[in-house]
Amino acid sequence: MIKFVNVNKVYPNGTSGLENVNLSIEDGEFVFVVGDSGSGKSTLVKLILTEERHTSGRIYVNDYDLSRIKNRHIPALRRTMGVVFQDFRLIPTMNVYDNVAFALRVTNIPSREIKKRVPYILNLVGLEAKSKAMPTQISGGEQQRVALARALANNPMLLLADEPTGNIDPNLTFEIMELLIEINHAAKTTVLVVTHEQDMVSHFNKRIITINKGRIVSDAPAQKKRRTGLIHSADPAPVSALAEPNAIRRRTVYDW
Ligand SMILES: Nc1ncnc2c1ncn2[C@@H]1O[C@H](COP(=O)(O)OP(=O)(O)O)[C@@H](O)[C@H]1O
Ligand SMILES: [Mg+2]
Repeated sequence: MIKFVNVNKVYPNGTSGLENVNLSIEDGEFVFVVGDSGSGKSTLVKLILTEERHTSGRIYVNDYDLSRIKNRHIPALRRTMGVVFQDFRLIPTMNVYDNVAFALRVTNIPSREIKKRVPYILNLVGLEAKSKAMPTQISGGEQQRVALARALANNPMLLLADEPTGNIDPNLTFEIMELLIEINHAAKTTVLVVTHEQDMVSHFNKRIITINKGRIVSDAPAQKKRRTGLIHSADPAPVSALAEPNAIRRRTVYDW
């Protein structure tokens, strides 16, 4: 759950990042946030992550009140979220398997659980055959799928993707978006995807929030009936299984 109430962000140099933003995103929703470069999209993501702090207003994320959160609770807040960025941010010296496993190792998950979980998540993003490959040996689209696997490793309540297709072959943009939609659908993960590719998002029947110069200028819900035909119904089994290891979710979300 994400809720912004009259949120303003002014950077220390006086630049306005967001102005009087109000929005509410329920658990399990899929939302695109679109806007031109410099409109405040990444600022929105950074405020949700508490990478930047808001100047005024109230922000609530996954039951945390970000106006009042204590620093010692920020790691627990962040474990409720998975994030992918435009530049993948993989660890170049680790293979695909270890890039995903690393995200679990740092959260004290037992190694026998990691050994089950990593192949399962790699299967989910269609990369089980590449688990021994190094990041430099796979394509941009595959690197982004590794980043996505890593973001999902902890079974987060919320997945944030800031320009996830900005550095990959345009032909693969739809594939990544479909994967994000499939994850939202099957695992009930709330998904927020930020992009400047406004034409592209209109091909998907999803809620679209448009930001311009730091302000929300439109918030269009998904249409009830329209089918785009873009959401392929590939075997849903591996994705739906994502909802299964809830033990991991409970531990990472509530163990604080
Ligand atoms: N750390 C910062 N310090 C000062 N201004 C910033 C900082 N980060 C972003 N901005 C400014 O805030 C505005 C919104 O930026 P950003 O959220 O990155 O936009 P977008 O992601 O939509 O391209 C821009 O005017 C940008 O220059
Ligand atoms: Mg940005």
